[in-house]
Amino acid sequence: MNILILQGSPRANGNTAWMAEEYRKAAEAAGHKVTLVDVAHKKIAGCMACEYCHGKGNGACIQKDDMQTLYPLLAEAEVLVLAAPIYYFTLSAQIQAPIQRIYNMQKPPMLKKMALLASSYSPNVYDGAIGEYQGIRNYWGVEDTGVVTAKIDEQKTDATKAKIVALVAKL
Ligand SMILES: Cc1cc2nc3c(=O)[nH]c(=O)nc-3n(C[C@H](O)[C@H](O)[C@H](O)COP(=O)(O)O)c2cc1C
Repeated sequence: MNILILQGSPRANGNTAWMAEEYRKAAEAAGHKVTLVDVAHKKIAGCMACEYCHGKGNGACIQKDDMQTLYPLLAEAEVLVLAAPIYYFTLSAQIQAPIQRIYNMQKPPMLKKMALLASSYSPNVYDGAIGEYQGIRNYWGVEDTGVVTAKIDEQKTDATKAKIVALVAKL
């Protein structure tokens, strides 16, 4: 399948980047086509709710920032993997902006499946992130292949890697 991973931590060698990379390696080993985008280092502004996309823009967003390079990838993605650190009990701002900019597309047209990878310091802080993930996934009507979380003592471990490999096996 054609997989797009959005990595939303600014820490290039951090725990979320590690989870995204493990997903990429497992998916490529299984024969999937994977594109991993570090959205945390892209210039992607929040949606302005101007409704240009639903009117004159005919589906195009009026904001010409790095999101423009993501739209063609979203148009072809069959699997969307959101990878983000937990900041104040929810997904990081760096991944919220690109998610909310998908407003112009209604739904990525080829999308069939999703997954969530999230890391935090503490346990029991994932409800907000998982609620948002499941809400979007339901709204788009696509299949949930699962959620892998990694709190401080679960980060960069073989056990977490095994959970990520198990997610890939559900594709
Ligand atoms: C601004 C900010 C807010 C955070 N908020 C939380 C939080 O609410 N709960 C928590 O357990 N960890 C919180 N953390 C810790 C990160 O989620 C944790 O260190 C995570 O593993 C970072 O992922 P990374 O290594 O991919 O950057 C926060 C970190 C930052 C920088």
